Amino acid sequence: MHATLLAVLLFLSHSCAALAAPAASEHTGVGPPPALAPGQAPPLPLAEPLAEPRSLNQVGFPKVLTEYVISPTTLRPARAALGQKLFFEPRLSGDGTVACATCHNPARAFTDGRPTSIGIHGRVGQRNAPTILNALYNKHQFWDGRVNTLEQQAAMPITNPFEMGSASVTDAMSKIATDQDYQSRFMEVFGRGVNEQDMLSAIAAYEQTLVSFDSPYDHFIAGDASAISDSAKRGLELFNTKARCNKCHALSDSERHETLFMDNDFHNIGIGILRHNVVQSAQQAEREVAQGNLPAIDTAAIASDLSVLGRFLATRKEKDIASFKTPGLRNVTVTGPYFHDGSMETLWDVMDHYNKGDGITDPWLDKDMQPLALSESEIDDVVAFLASLTSPQYEKVGDEEYERQLAKSKMSRPQRDTARAFGPKPLQPNPPPL
Ligand code: HEC
Ligand code: HEC
Repeated sequence: MHATLLAVLLFLSHSCAALAAPAASEHTGVGPPPALAPGQAPPLPLAEPLAEPRSLNQVGFPKVLTEYVISPTTLRPARAALGQKLFFEPRLSGDGTVACATCHNPARAFTDGRPTSIGIHGRVGQRNAPTILNALYNKHQFWDGRVNTLEQQAAMPITNPFEMGSASVTDAMSKIATDQDYQSRFMEVFGRGVNEQDMLSAIAAYEQTLVSFDSPYDHFIAGDASAISDSAKRGLELFNTKARCNKCHALSDSERHETLFMDNDFHNIGIGILRHNVVQSAQQAEREVAQGNLPAIDTAAIASDLSVLGRFLATRKEKDIASFKTPGLRNVTVTGPYFHDGSMETLWDVMDHYNKGDGITDPWLDKDMQPLALSESEIDDVVAFLASLTSPQYEKVGDEEYERQLAKSKMSRPQRDTARAFGPKPLQPNPPPL
Protein backbone atom coordinates (compact mmCIF):
# COMPACT_ATOMS: atom_id res chain seq x y z
CA MET A 1 0.00 0.00 0.00
CA HIS A 2 1.09 3.59 -0.62
CA ALA A 3 2.74 5.29 2.33
CA THR A 4 0.46 8.33 1.92
CA LEU A 5 -2.65 6.19 1.96
CA LEU A 6 -1.46 4.46 5.10
CA ALA A 7 -0.76 7.84 6.74
CA VAL A 8 -4.29 9.01 6.00
CA LEU A 9 -5.73 5.79 7.37
CA LEU A 10 -3.65 6.09 10.51
CA PHE A 11 -4.91 9.61 11.00
CA LEU A 12 -8.53 8.62 10.41
CA SER A 13 -8.33 5.71 12.77
CA HIS A 14 -7.01 7.98 15.53
CA SER A 15 -9.91 10.33 15.16
CA CYS A 16 -12.56 7.58 15.21
CA ALA A 17 -11.28 5.67 18.21
CA ALA A 18 -13.31 7.62 20.74
CA LEU A 19 -16.53 6.85 18.86
CA ALA A 20 -15.89 3.13 18.68
CA ALA A 21 -18.22 1.79 21.35
CA PRO A 22 -20.67 3.08 23.93
CA ALA A 23 -19.69 2.64 27.56
CA ALA A 24 -20.61 -0.56 29.40
CA SER A 25 -19.00 -2.72 31.99
CA GLU A 26 -15.82 -4.45 30.87
CA HIS A 27 -15.63 -6.98 33.64
CA THR A 28 -18.79 -8.93 32.99
CA GLY A 29 -17.92 -9.68 29.36
CA VAL A 30 -21.52 -8.73 28.49
CA GLY A 31 -22.30 -6.00 25.96
CA PRO A 32 -19.85 -3.61 24.31
CA PRO A 33 -16.65 -2.75 26.22
CA PRO A 34 -16.07 0.84 27.38
CA ALA A 35 -14.99 3.46 24.83
CA LEU A 36 -11.32 4.39 24.82
CA ALA A 37 -9.59 7.74 24.83
CA PRO A 38 -8.22 8.65 21.37
CA GLY A 39 -4.79 7.17 20.75
CA GLN A 40 -5.19 4.60 23.50
CA ALA A 41 -4.97 0.84 23.02
CA PRO A 42 -7.53 -1.31 24.89
CA PRO A 43 -6.47 -2.55 28.34
CA LEU A 44 -4.68 -5.89 28.52
CA PRO A 45 -6.98 -8.51 30.11
CA LEU A 46 -5.73 -10.49 33.08
CA ALA A 47 -4.53 -14.04 32.65
CA GLU A 48 -7.46 -15.42 34.61
CA PRO A 49 -8.66 -19.05 34.95
CA LEU A 50 -10.54 -18.83 31.64
CA ALA A 51 -7.16 -18.47 29.90
CA GLU A 52 -6.09 -21.95 31.02
CA PRO A 53 -5.87 -24.88 28.59
CA ARG A 54 -9.14 -26.79 28.44
CA SER A 55 -9.75 -30.33 29.56
CA LEU A 56 -10.16 -32.87 26.75
CA ASN A 57 -12.81 -34.54 28.81
CA GLN A 58 -15.76 -32.72 27.26
CA VAL A 59 -18.98 -34.13 25.89
CA GLY A 60 -18.85 -33.73 22.10
CA PHE A 61 -15.04 -33.47 21.97
CA PRO A 62 -13.99 -34.75 18.51
CA LYS A 63 -11.11 -37.02 19.51
CA VAL A 64 -10.28 -38.48 16.12
CA LEU A 65 -10.43 -35.14 14.32
CA THR A 66 -8.29 -33.51 17.00
CA GLU A 67 -5.63 -36.19 16.73
CA TYR A 68 -5.69 -35.63 13.00
CA VAL A 69 -5.11 -31.85 13.20
CA ILE A 70 -2.62 -31.69 16.09
CA SER A 71 0.79 -33.25 16.01
CA PRO A 72 1.39 -35.03 19.34
CA THR A 73 4.73 -33.29 19.85
CA THR A 74 3.00 -29.95 20.24
CA LEU A 75 0.81 -31.30 23.00
CA ARG A 76 3.37 -30.95 25.73
CA PRO A 77 2.11 -28.83 28.66
CA ALA A 78 5.36 -26.86 29.02
CA ARG A 79 5.14 -25.75 25.40
CA ALA A 80 1.53 -24.61 25.75
CA ALA A 81 2.36 -22.83 29.04
CA LEU A 82 5.12 -20.90 27.28
CA GLY A 83 2.68 -20.06 24.50
CA GLN A 84 0.12 -18.87 27.06
CA LYS A 85 2.68 -16.51 28.57
CA LEU A 86 3.53 -15.19 25.08
CA PHE A 87 -0.18 -14.75 24.29
CA PHE A 88 -0.37 -12.26 27.17
CA GLU A 89 3.02 -10.63 26.41
CA PRO A 90 2.68 -6.91 25.54
CA ARG A 91 6.41 -6.59 24.89
CA LEU A 92 5.79 -8.28 21.55
CA SER A 93 4.14 -5.02 20.40
CA GLY A 94 5.91 -1.92 19.14
CA ASP A 95 5.33 0.14 22.29
CA GLY A 96 4.82 -2.63 24.85
CA THR A 97 1.06 -2.06 25.26
CA VAL A 98 -0.70 -4.69 23.12
CA ALA A 99 -0.71 -8.49 23.37
CA CYS A 100 -2.68 -11.16 21.55
CA ALA A 101 -5.03 -11.27 24.56
CA THR A 102 -5.86 -7.56 24.14
CA CYS A 103 -8.16 -8.54 21.28
CA HIS A 104 -8.67 -12.18 22.22
CA ASN A 105 -9.88 -11.79 25.80
CA PRO A 106 -10.55 -15.12 27.56
CA ALA A 107 -13.45 -13.53 29.49
CA ARG A 108 -15.18 -12.86 26.18
CA ALA A 109 -14.52 -16.28 24.68
CA PHE A 110 -11.26 -14.90 23.22
CA THR A 111 -12.86 -11.99 21.35
CA ASP A 112 -12.93 -8.29 22.26
CA GLY A 113 -16.63 -7.44 22.07
CA ARG A 114 -15.94 -4.60 19.63
CA PRO A 115 -17.31 -4.32 16.10
CA THR A 116 -13.75 -4.09 14.79
CA SER A 117 -10.57 -4.46 16.82
CA ILE A 118 -8.50 -1.61 18.21
CA GLY A 119 -4.74 -2.01 18.37
CA ILE A 120 -1.60 -0.07 19.12
CA HIS A 121 -2.06 3.72 19.56
CA GLY A 122 -5.82 3.18 19.49
CA ARG A 123 -5.84 2.39 15.76
CA VAL A 124 -9.23 1.03 14.69
CA GLY A 125 -9.06 -1.83 12.20
CA GLN A 126 -11.61 -3.01 9.66
CA ARG A 127 -12.24 -6.51 10.95
CA ASN A 128 -13.97 -8.17 13.87
CA ALA A 129 -11.79 -10.37 16.09
CA PRO A 130 -12.83 -14.04 15.75
CA THR A 131 -12.61 -16.37 18.72
CA ILE A 132 -9.46 -18.45 19.26
CA LEU A 133 -11.55 -21.26 20.76
CA ASN A 134 -11.48 -24.19 18.32
CA ALA A 135 -9.31 -22.17 15.87
CA LEU A 136 -7.09 -25.26 15.77
CA TYR A 137 -9.75 -26.91 13.59
CA ASN A 138 -9.78 -24.09 11.00
CA LYS A 139 -8.50 -25.19 7.64
CA HIS A 140 -7.82 -21.52 6.90
CA GLN A 141 -7.06 -18.71 9.33
CA PHE A 142 -8.51 -15.18 9.13
CA TRP A 143 -11.85 -14.17 7.63
CA ASP A 144 -10.30 -14.36 4.17
CA GLY A 145 -8.12 -17.41 4.84
CA ARG A 146 -4.95 -15.62 3.81
CA VAL A 147 -2.87 -18.11 5.81
CA ASN A 148 -3.61 -21.69 6.82
CA THR A 149 -1.70 -22.54 9.98
CA LEU A 150 -1.74 -21.06 13.46
CA GLU A 151 2.06 -20.57 13.29
CA GLN A 152 1.80 -18.51 10.09
CA GLN A 153 -1.14 -16.62 11.56
CA ALA A 154 0.66 -15.64 14.78
CA ALA A 155 3.36 -13.75 12.89
CA MET A 156 0.91 -11.40 11.19
CA PRO A 157 -0.61 -9.36 14.08
CA ILE A 158 2.83 -8.86 15.64
CA THR A 159 3.87 -6.63 12.75
CA ASN A 160 0.50 -5.35 11.52
CA PRO A 161 0.60 -1.55 12.05
CA PHE A 162 -3.00 -1.54 13.35
CA GLU A 163 -2.54 -4.45 15.76
CA MET A 164 0.76 -4.91 17.62
CA GLY A 165 2.87 -2.72 15.34
CA SER A 166 6.32 -4.23 15.87
CA ALA A 167 8.95 -3.41 13.25
CA SER A 168 9.49 -7.13 12.59
CA VAL A 169 8.94 -10.47 14.30
CA THR A 170 12.69 -10.53 14.98
CA ASP A 171 12.42 -7.17 16.66
CA ALA A 172 9.52 -8.38 18.84
CA MET A 173 11.45 -11.55 19.72
CA SER A 174 14.53 -9.55 20.70
CA LYS A 175 12.46 -7.68 23.33
CA ILE A 176 11.95 -10.88 25.29
CA ALA A 177 15.20 -12.63 24.38
CA THR A 178 17.08 -11.14 27.33
CA ASP A 179 14.42 -12.18 29.84
CA GLN A 180 15.76 -15.00 32.02
CA ASP A 181 12.42 -16.72 32.46
CA TYR A 182 11.93 -16.91 28.69
CA GLN A 183 15.52 -18.07 28.20
CA SER A 184 15.10 -20.99 30.55
CA ARG A 185 11.62 -21.90 29.28
CA PHE A 186 12.71 -21.91 25.61
CA MET A 187 15.67 -24.06 26.61
CA GLU A 188 13.44 -26.47 28.52
CA VAL A 189 10.80 -26.75 25.77
CA PHE A 190 12.83 -26.51 22.57
CA GLY A 191 16.39 -27.17 23.75
CA ARG A 192 17.67 -23.87 22.35
CA GLY A 193 17.59 -20.15 23.05
CA VAL A 194 14.78 -17.68 22.31
CA ASN A 195 14.06 -17.58 18.57
CA GLU A 196 11.24 -16.54 16.23
CA GLN A 197 10.19 -19.92 14.94
CA ASP A 198 9.87 -21.53 18.37
CA MET A 199 8.08 -18.45 19.67
CA LEU A 200 5.37 -18.83 17.00
CA SER A 201 5.20 -22.60 17.56
CA ALA A 202 4.65 -22.10 21.28
CA ILE A 203 1.82 -19.61 20.68
CA ALA A 204 0.20 -22.09 18.29
CA ALA A 205 0.63 -24.90 20.82
CA TYR A 206 -1.24 -22.82 23.40
CA GLU A 207 -4.04 -22.08 20.94
CA GLN A 208 -4.31 -25.81 20.24
CA THR A 209 -5.30 -26.37 23.86
CA LEU A 210 -8.35 -24.12 23.53
CA VAL A 211 -10.94 -26.72 22.62
CA SER A 212 -14.51 -25.77 23.45
CA PHE A 213 -17.39 -28.26 23.43
CA ASP A 214 -19.55 -29.68 26.28
CA SER A 215 -22.42 -27.30 25.49
CA PRO A 216 -26.09 -28.12 26.14
CA TYR A 217 -26.28 -28.99 22.42
CA ASP A 218 -23.49 -31.58 22.83
CA HIS A 219 -25.30 -33.11 25.80
CA PHE A 220 -28.49 -33.22 23.75
CA ILE A 221 -26.75 -34.96 20.84
CA ALA A 222 -25.18 -37.37 23.34
CA GLY A 223 -28.67 -38.44 24.41
CA ASP A 224 -29.81 -36.10 27.18
CA ALA A 225 -33.18 -35.04 25.76
CA SER A 226 -33.70 -32.41 28.43
CA ALA A 227 -30.36 -30.63 27.83
CA ILE A 228 -31.91 -28.03 25.51
CA SER A 229 -35.30 -26.35 25.45
CA ASP A 230 -38.13 -27.27 23.07
CA SER A 231 -37.54 -23.96 21.33
CA ALA A 232 -33.85 -24.84 20.76
CA LYS A 233 -34.91 -28.27 19.43
CA ARG A 234 -37.21 -26.61 16.91
CA GLY A 235 -34.35 -24.21 16.10
CA LEU A 236 -31.99 -27.11 15.40
CA GLU A 237 -34.55 -28.61 13.03
CA LEU A 238 -35.01 -25.27 11.24
CA PHE A 239 -31.22 -24.83 11.06
CA ASN A 240 -31.05 -28.01 8.99
CA THR A 241 -34.16 -27.43 6.88
CA LYS A 242 -36.18 -24.28 6.18
CA ALA A 243 -33.56 -21.81 7.48
CA ARG A 244 -30.89 -23.42 5.26
CA CYS A 245 -28.05 -22.66 7.72
CA ASN A 246 -26.56 -26.12 7.11
CA LYS A 247 -25.88 -25.16 3.47
CA CYS A 248 -22.74 -23.50 4.85
CA HIS A 249 -22.48 -24.08 8.60
CA ALA A 250 -21.98 -27.82 8.17
CA LEU A 251 -19.57 -30.06 6.32
CA SER A 252 -22.40 -31.27 4.11
CA ASP A 253 -26.10 -30.51 3.58
CA SER A 254 -27.01 -33.85 5.09
CA GLU A 255 -24.87 -33.45 8.23
CA ARG A 256 -27.25 -33.19 11.15
CA HIS A 257 -25.00 -33.67 14.17
CA GLU A 258 -22.57 -30.95 13.30
CA THR A 259 -19.43 -30.54 15.39
CA LEU A 260 -17.86 -27.31 14.22
CA PHE A 261 -20.65 -25.63 12.21
CA MET A 262 -18.43 -24.65 9.31
CA ASP A 263 -17.67 -25.90 5.81
CA ASN A 264 -14.03 -24.76 5.52
CA ASP A 265 -15.20 -22.57 2.66
CA PHE A 266 -15.84 -18.93 1.74
CA HIS A 267 -19.07 -17.25 0.69
CA ASN A 268 -20.35 -13.83 -0.21
CA ILE A 269 -23.43 -13.44 1.97
CA GLY A 270 -23.89 -9.73 1.34
CA ILE A 271 -22.28 -8.28 4.46
CA GLY A 272 -21.13 -4.69 4.03
CA ILE A 273 -20.80 -5.02 0.28
CA LEU A 274 -23.66 -2.64 -0.57
CA ARG A 275 -21.95 0.17 1.32
CA HIS A 276 -18.84 -0.05 -0.85
CA ASN A 277 -17.91 0.42 -4.47
CA VAL A 278 -16.49 -3.04 -4.88
CA VAL A 279 -15.40 -2.73 -8.50
CA GLN A 280 -13.37 0.36 -7.71
CA SER A 281 -11.84 -1.38 -4.68
CA ALA A 282 -10.96 -4.46 -6.74
CA GLN A 283 -9.22 -2.27 -9.31
CA GLN A 284 -7.37 -0.42 -6.57
CA ALA A 285 -6.25 -3.73 -5.06
CA GLU A 286 -4.91 -4.85 -8.45
CA ARG A 287 -2.86 -1.65 -8.66
CA GLU A 288 -1.66 -1.29 -5.08
CA VAL A 289 -1.42 -4.68 -3.38
CA ALA A 290 1.01 -7.06 -5.07
CA GLN A 291 -0.51 -10.52 -5.44
CA GLY A 292 0.99 -12.93 -2.95
CA ASN A 293 2.64 -10.19 -0.87
CA LEU A 294 1.35 -11.43 2.46
CA PRO A 295 2.33 -8.47 4.70
CA ALA A 296 0.75 -6.06 2.17
CA ILE A 297 -2.43 -8.16 2.02
CA ASP A 298 -2.52 -8.35 5.81
CA THR A 299 -2.19 -4.57 6.14
CA ALA A 300 -4.79 -3.92 3.45
CA ALA A 301 -7.24 -6.33 5.11
CA ILE A 302 -6.97 -4.79 8.56
CA ALA A 303 -6.13 -1.18 7.83
CA SER A 304 -7.89 -0.15 4.60
CA ASP A 305 -11.23 -0.08 2.82
CA LEU A 306 -9.95 -2.88 0.60
CA SER A 307 -10.90 -5.09 3.55
CA VAL A 308 -14.37 -5.48 2.01
CA LEU A 309 -12.88 -7.49 -0.87
CA GLY A 310 -12.49 -10.44 1.48
CA ARG A 311 -11.00 -13.55 -0.07
CA PHE A 312 -10.40 -11.75 -3.38
CA LEU A 313 -7.45 -9.94 -1.74
CA ALA A 314 -5.77 -13.29 -1.21
CA THR A 315 -6.76 -15.14 -4.42
CA ARG A 316 -7.57 -12.41 -7.03
CA LYS A 317 -10.36 -14.62 -8.31
CA GLU A 318 -13.48 -12.71 -9.25
CA LYS A 319 -15.74 -15.34 -7.67
CA ASP A 320 -14.09 -14.55 -4.31
CA ILE A 321 -15.09 -10.88 -4.29
CA ALA A 322 -16.43 -9.97 -0.86
CA SER A 323 -16.55 -13.58 0.21
CA PHE A 324 -15.53 -14.49 3.73
CA LYS A 325 -14.89 -17.65 5.68
CA THR A 326 -17.85 -19.45 7.19
CA PRO A 327 -17.13 -19.09 10.92
CA GLY A 328 -17.90 -21.78 13.47
CA LEU A 329 -20.89 -20.98 15.67
CA ARG A 330 -19.88 -22.34 19.06
CA ASN A 331 -20.12 -19.80 21.90
CA VAL A 332 -21.67 -17.41 19.37
CA THR A 333 -23.83 -15.71 21.99
CA VAL A 334 -20.63 -14.51 23.67
CA THR A 335 -18.60 -13.63 20.54
CA GLY A 336 -20.67 -10.74 19.15
CA PRO A 337 -20.89 -8.33 17.47
CA TYR A 338 -21.25 -10.42 14.34
CA PHE A 339 -19.73 -10.85 10.88
CA HIS A 340 -16.29 -9.90 9.56
CA ASP A 341 -16.96 -6.21 10.11
CA GLY A 342 -18.89 -6.60 13.37
CA SER A 343 -21.78 -4.81 11.70
CA MET A 344 -24.58 -6.62 13.56
CA GLU A 345 -25.10 -6.42 17.28
CA THR A 346 -27.60 -9.17 18.00
CA LEU A 347 -28.40 -12.67 16.79
CA TRP A 348 -31.84 -11.36 15.86
CA ASP A 349 -30.14 -8.92 13.46
CA VAL A 350 -28.18 -11.86 12.00
CA MET A 351 -31.44 -13.79 11.53
CA ASP A 352 -33.16 -10.80 9.92
CA HIS A 353 -30.24 -10.55 7.49
CA TYR A 354 -30.60 -14.18 6.42
CA ASN A 355 -34.40 -14.08 6.49
CA LYS A 356 -34.57 -11.36 3.83
CA GLY A 357 -31.75 -13.01 1.83
CA ASP A 358 -29.95 -9.70 1.83
CA GLY A 359 -27.79 -8.53 -1.04
CA ILE A 360 -30.33 -7.98 -3.84
CA THR A 361 -27.99 -5.77 -5.85
CA ASP A 362 -24.87 -7.77 -5.04
CA PRO A 363 -23.93 -9.63 -8.23
CA TRP A 364 -21.54 -11.96 -6.40
CA LEU A 365 -24.02 -13.02 -3.72
CA ASP A 366 -23.83 -16.73 -2.90
CA LYS A 367 -26.49 -18.74 -4.73
CA ASP A 368 -27.52 -20.29 -1.43
CA MET A 369 -28.78 -16.95 -0.13
CA GLN A 370 -32.51 -16.43 -0.57
CA PRO A 371 -35.52 -15.13 1.35
CA LEU A 372 -36.45 -17.66 4.04
CA ALA A 373 -39.97 -16.69 5.10
CA LEU A 374 -39.22 -17.45 8.76
CA SER A 375 -41.86 -16.29 11.23
CA GLU A 376 -40.91 -14.37 14.37
CA SER A 377 -41.28 -17.47 16.53
CA GLU A 378 -39.12 -19.47 14.10
CA ILE A 379 -36.44 -16.77 14.36
CA ASP A 380 -36.61 -17.00 18.16
CA ASP A 381 -36.21 -20.79 17.87
CA VAL A 382 -33.06 -20.58 15.75
CA VAL A 383 -31.59 -18.04 18.19
CA ALA A 384 -32.45 -20.36 21.10
CA PHE A 385 -30.62 -23.14 19.28
CA LEU A 386 -27.56 -20.91 18.69
CA ALA A 387 -27.58 -20.05 22.40
CA SER A 388 -27.40 -23.77 23.21
CA LEU A 389 -23.89 -23.89 21.67
CA THR A 390 -22.29 -22.16 24.66
CA SER A 391 -19.63 -24.10 26.58
CA PRO A 392 -20.03 -24.34 30.38
CA GLN A 393 -17.31 -21.76 31.16
CA TYR A 394 -19.41 -19.12 29.44
CA GLU A 395 -22.85 -20.20 30.60
CA LYS A 396 -23.39 -17.18 32.84
CA VAL A 397 -22.03 -14.61 30.36
CA GLY A 398 -23.97 -16.34 27.59
CA ASP A 399 -27.27 -16.16 29.51
CA GLU A 400 -26.75 -12.50 30.36
CA GLU A 401 -25.74 -11.61 26.82
CA TYR A 402 -28.77 -13.50 25.46
CA GLU A 403 -31.03 -11.41 27.73
CA ARG A 404 -29.25 -8.20 26.71
CA GLN A 405 -29.66 -8.99 23.00
CA LEU A 406 -33.29 -10.03 23.48
CA ALA A 407 -34.05 -6.71 25.21
CA LYS A 408 -32.22 -4.82 22.49
CA SER A 409 -34.05 -6.69 19.74
CA LYS A 410 -37.40 -5.77 21.29
CA MET A 411 -36.45 -2.09 20.96
CA SER A 412 -34.88 -2.20 17.53
CA ARG A 413 -34.61 -4.59 14.59
CA PRO A 414 -32.64 -2.55 12.04
CA GLN A 415 -32.25 -5.49 9.63
CA ARG A 416 -35.87 -6.69 9.67
CA ASP A 417 -37.70 -6.56 6.32
CA THR A 418 -40.72 -8.84 6.52
CA ALA A 419 -41.96 -8.04 3.00
CA ARG A 420 -38.70 -9.23 1.50
CA ALA A 421 -38.44 -12.21 3.83
CA PHE A 422 -41.78 -13.48 2.52
CA GLY A 423 -41.25 -12.26 -1.05
CA PRO A 424 -39.79 -14.04 -4.10
CA LYS A 425 -36.06 -14.52 -4.61
CA PRO A 426 -34.90 -11.34 -6.36
CA LEU A 427 -33.20 -11.49 -9.74
CA GLN A 428 -29.47 -11.07 -9.35
CA PRO A 429 -27.68 -8.61 -11.63
CA ASN A 430 -24.73 -9.83 -13.69
CA PRO A 431 -21.31 -8.85 -12.36
CA PRO A 432 -19.99 -5.63 -13.92
CA PRO A 433 -16.68 -5.86 -15.83
CA LEU A 434 -13.67 -5.54 -13.51
C1 HEC B 1 -5.51 -5.48 17.66
C2 HEC B 1 -6.28 -6.68 17.85
C3 HEC B 1 -5.62 -8.02 17.67
C4 HEC B 1 -4.44 -8.48 18.19
C5 HEC B 1 -3.47 -7.72 19.05
C6 HEC B 1 -4.33 -9.85 17.77
N1 HEC B 1 -5.41 -10.22 17.03
FE1 HEC B 1 -5.81 -12.05 16.31
N2 HEC B 1 -7.27 -11.28 15.20
C7 HEC B 1 -7.74 -9.99 15.26
C8 HEC B 1 -8.64 -9.75 14.16
C9 HEC B 1 -9.37 -8.46 13.87
C10 HEC B 1 -8.68 -10.94 13.40
C11 HEC B 1 -9.41 -11.16 12.09
C12 HEC B 1 -8.57 -10.50 11.00
C13 HEC B 1 -8.90 -10.93 9.61
O1 HEC B 1 -9.56 -11.96 9.46
O2 HEC B 1 -8.50 -10.24 8.67
C14 HEC B 1 -7.82 -11.89 14.10
C15 HEC B 1 -7.65 -13.22 13.71
C16 HEC B 1 -6.95 -14.14 14.45
C17 HEC B 1 -6.95 -15.57 14.22
C18 HEC B 1 -7.75 -16.30 13.14
C19 HEC B 1 -9.01 -16.90 13.72
C20 HEC B 1 -9.97 -17.37 12.66
O3 HEC B 1 -11.00 -17.95 13.03
O4 HEC B 1 -9.75 -17.15 11.46
C21 HEC B 1 -6.11 -16.13 15.14
C22 HEC B 1 -5.80 -17.60 15.31
C23 HEC B 1 -5.57 -15.05 15.92
N3 HEC B 1 -6.12 -13.87 15.49
C24 HEC B 1 -4.59 -15.17 16.91
C25 HEC B 1 -3.85 -14.08 17.38
C26 HEC B 1 -2.56 -14.18 18.03
C27 HEC B 1 -1.83 -15.47 18.30
C28 HEC B 1 -2.17 -12.91 18.33
C29 HEC B 1 -0.88 -12.45 18.95
C30 HEC B 1 0.34 -12.85 18.30
C31 HEC B 1 -3.24 -12.03 17.87
N4 HEC B 1 -4.22 -12.78 17.29
C32 HEC B 1 -3.24 -10.66 18.07
C33 HEC B 1 -7.40 -9.07 16.22
C34 HEC B 1 -6.21 -9.12 16.92
C1 HEC C 1 -24.31 -19.23 1.91
C2 HEC C 1 -23.61 -19.68 3.10
C3 HEC C 1 -24.24 -19.39 4.45
C4 HEC C 1 -25.52 -19.66 4.88
C5 HEC C 1 -26.67 -20.26 4.09
C6 HEC C 1 -25.57 -19.25 6.26
N1 HEC C 1 -24.36 -18.74 6.66
FE1 HEC C 1 -23.94 -17.89 8.43
N2 HEC C 1 -22.17 -17.24 7.71
C7 HEC C 1 -21.65 -17.55 6.48
C8 HEC C 1 -20.48 -16.75 6.22
C9 HEC C 1 -19.61 -16.79 4.99
C10 HEC C 1 -20.33 -15.91 7.35
C11 HEC C 1 -19.30 -14.79 7.51
C12 HEC C 1 -19.72 -13.67 6.56
C13 HEC C 1 -19.09 -12.33 6.79
O1 HEC C 1 -18.70 -12.01 7.90
O2 HEC C 1 -19.01 -11.56 5.81
C14 HEC C 1 -21.40 -16.28 8.27
C15 HEC C 1 -21.58 -15.72 9.53
C16 HEC C 1 -22.55 -16.11 10.43
C17 HEC C 1 -22.66 -15.64 11.79
C18 HEC C 1 -21.72 -14.65 12.47
C19 HEC C 1 -20.71 -15.39 13.29
C20 HEC C 1 -19.63 -14.50 13.83
O3 HEC C 1 -18.78 -15.04 14.55
O4 HEC C 1 -19.55 -13.31 13.53
C21 HEC C 1 -23.73 -16.27 12.36
C22 HEC C 1 -24.23 -16.11 13.78
C23 HEC C 1 -24.31 -17.10 11.34
N3 HEC C 1 -23.57 -16.99 10.19
C24 HEC C 1 -25.42 -17.90 11.52
C25 HEC C 1 -26.13 -18.46 10.46
C26 HEC C 1 -27.47 -18.98 10.56
C27 HEC C 1 -28.26 -19.05 11.84
C28 HEC C 1 -27.85 -19.35 9.30
C29 HEC C 1 -29.19 -19.86 8.85
C30 HEC C 1 -30.30 -18.94 9.08
C31 HEC C 1 -26.72 -19.09 8.42
N4 HEC C 1 -25.71 -18.55 9.17
C32 HEC C 1 -26.71 -19.35 7.06
C33 HEC C 1 -22.20 -18.44 5.58
C34 HEC C 1 -23.53 -18.82 5.58
